[in-house]
Amino acid sequence: MAFTYFFRDIQTLEMIRDHVIPELRTRRYIHIWDAGCAMGPEPYSLAMVLRENMGMIFRNVKIHATDIDSSNLFGDIISKGIYPRDQIQRIPKDIFEKYFSPADEPDHFVISEEIRKSVSFTRHDLLDLQPVRKGLNLILCKNVLLHFQEKERIEVIKMFHDALEGGYLAMEQTQKMPPELEEYFEPVVSNAQLYRKVV
Ligand SMILES: C[S@@+](CC[C@H](N)C(=O)[O-])C[C@H]1O[C@@H](n2cnc3c(N)ncnc32)[C@H](O)[C@@H]1O
Repeated sequence: MAFTYFFRDIQTLEMIRDHVIPELRTRRYIHIWDAGCAMGPEPYSLAMVLRENMGMIFRNVKIHATDIDSSNLFGDIISKGIYPRDQIQRIPKDIFEKYFSPADEPDHFVISEEIRKSVSFTRHDLLDLQPVRKGLNLILCKNVLLHFQEKERIEVIKMFHDALEGGYLAMEQTQKMPPELEEYFEPVVSNAQLYRKVV
């Protein structure tokens, strides 16, 4: 269930870079929710892309990473930001060299403090239908909703809608917007995995 890796979905990261970051740059505070973040590669990959493209404005970014975390281990792994070599193979070389350094443990690497400080983890069950906060600018929920029933998916996406402040929702490519909710979101590009809240 917790399968994930760094830069798993480069296409979504590029869409966020091209379509979301220009708008985020105009905000004083930027709140992002990574719902179903597993042990951290996804929120950290996003943080690195934001840092690369936002410069000093990145200090206004807060990524609220949550997961049901049945292992009860993710909080510790994410706060330490230390990952073994085999989990970081796909990171672009320039990003790896900039944001990782060797950890004390052999063959492990630690993420830079600036990136680590932008991500905080809370245990959270999406099916409780309580947003991590309101006034969000971007929600990332990838490879999680497919595990839910259709009715649950609709309720969770409605909760995302309420929690967004006219911002963006990114899902995996195979996860289409349920017809009941199409009027609440518009696809940012035609083959959408990125939606903008419209009402
Ligand atoms: C396949 S991983 C996806 C990780 C990451 N989003 C990605 O795409 O690489 C699915 C994650 O969803 C989490 N999950 C499953 N049910 C959940 C729920 N009800 N609330 C929150 N997270 C949940 C699992 O614990 C797991 O970490």
